[in-house]
Amino acid sequence: MAIIYGVGVGPGNPELLTRKAERILRGVDVILAPVSRPGEPSVALETVREFIDEDRQELIIHQFPMTSDKARLVSAWQAAASLIASHAEAGRSVAFITIGDPLFYSTFIYLLRIFQQQFPHLPVEIIPGISSINAAACEALLPLVEGDEKIAVVPATAGIEIIVDSLTHFETVVLLKVKPLYGEIIELLRMTGREQSTVFVERVGSPRQKVLTDFAEISAHSPDYLSLMIVK
Ligand SMILES: C[S@@+](CC[C@H](N)C(=O)[O-])C[C@H]1O[C@@H](n2cnc3c(N)ncnc32)[C@H](O)[C@@H]1O
Repeated sequence: MAIIYGVGVGPGNPELLTRKAERILRGVDVILAPVSRPGEPSVALETVREFIDEDRQELIIHQFPMTSDKARLVSAWQAAASLIASHAEAGRSVAFITIGDPLFYSTFIYLLRIFQQQFPHLPVEIIPGISSINAAACEALLPLVEGDEKIAVVPATAGIEIIVDSLTHFETVVLLKVKPLYGEIIELLRMTGREQSTVFVERVGSPRQKVLTDFAEISAHSPDYLSLMIVK
């Protein structure tokens, strides 16, 4: 029985991978990388490509559709977990790679639950990764919280009311998954006087990184999926 690893690869820069993650990725027999659409590049895989030897290691690209259709999601999670488990049962160690941290809004969380429920005999190890939030704050030179301050992390998909509520109760609010609600968020930040205290960060750690602090620029921008906002 081999070990199943959930490996956090950080936000997209190979230098922001832990030494442990690198050691495990170089040593495993199988690596499973997630994509949301066939043929699309995997950010996690691009981040660790230099540590993988495809002559020696098997690389599996697995599709996890970006959908709210629970049945399709569950079936993709189950297929991936069963595939990983079958390799581990055959004595091959497997790493599931994920951007940022594996226990922070990651598909790995759903796979972990399946391993625990259906394959409790298989050992699982999780390697933490640098989250996009920490990397973004560092790039923006922006302290996230200090002293007694409180921080809220809100996926914008939770809805505009939740964001309003968080802005009222927390000194710092980090908004993830901002793309679908971007226009409404911009309007809310304008109405609540957050123009001077909002930072927008896209694709942190990658060559396409963007850090915007000017509200006019933030408002005019069309964000992609890998973007977040830090609001003080
Ligand atoms: C499913 S969550 C994954 C979070 C990830 N596990 C982490 O620890 O950062 C996806 C959201 O995280 C944020 N995100 C992830 N990687 C990012 C990056 N490189 N730059 C900016 N935001 C990122 C975006 O808000 C994106 O919509």
